[in-house]
Amino acid sequence: MACMIIAIDGPAASGKGTLGKRLAHHYGYRHLDTGVIYRAVAKALLDANIALTNEAAAVAVAMELDPEKFGHPELKTQRIGDAASVVSAIPRVREALVDFQRQFAAGPPGAVLDGRDIGTVICPDAEVKIFVVADPRVRARRRALEARARGETVDEEAVLADIIRRDERDQNRPVAPLRPAPDAHTLDNSKLDIDAGVRAAIAIVEAVRAGRKPAP
Ligand code: C5P
Repeated sequence: MACMIIAIDGPAASGKGTLGKRLAHHYGYRHLDTGVIYRAVAKALLDANIALTNEAAAVAVAMELDPEKFGHPELKTQRIGDAASVVSAIPRVREALVDFQRQFAAGPPGAVLDGRDIGTVICPDAEVKIFVVADPRVRARRRALEARARGETVDEEAVLADIIRRDERDQNRPVAPLRPAPDAHTLDNSKLDIDAGVRAAIAIVEAVRAGRKPAP
């Protein structure tokens, strides 16, 4: 039997990373936050003072990524997230990262991947696809709280502007734009706390596995 794959896509700060981690834990699967990969490419370019739009350099960095470095705390910052959305729009950078993501997804016993194009491009045959949405203001508030918890000074309006700019860039790029796969189930996370979001996601997975239509 093929390994189970749960694909979670959604815009910046929609809560898909936390949901992905919790779902993976619930089912005993491995978890990959694919945003970290693009963030790692962006950080490597910024650290080396190379323009984010330098395609050849970005592709070279993407081909040599070291997953051991995916836990670096700076990767979580807003600056790196914004830079990641610039490098991730380069088609050859995306291509260079496809195999790594698919190999991760294929390993036993199963995997949860979250990102922007998991259900549409990376794992179009995933067993369950969830598209997480949340009101931009709610997302900005959550991001600001997380940043403050890390000791960063943040202006929530600036976070909101960043989120809107990033959504716009991710949705309108010609390659692998952020959009729900036709067979994805939408989960509106605006009014749910973490536990309620996880319960809603598990309900979707269970309904799909049982061949039922998930409740709206
Ligand atoms: O999800 P996260 O905020 O960490 O992603 C950072 C950026 O990386 C996104 O704004 C998006 O441009 C890019 N990304 C992507 N495809 C993915 C995951 C992230 O293009 N699968």
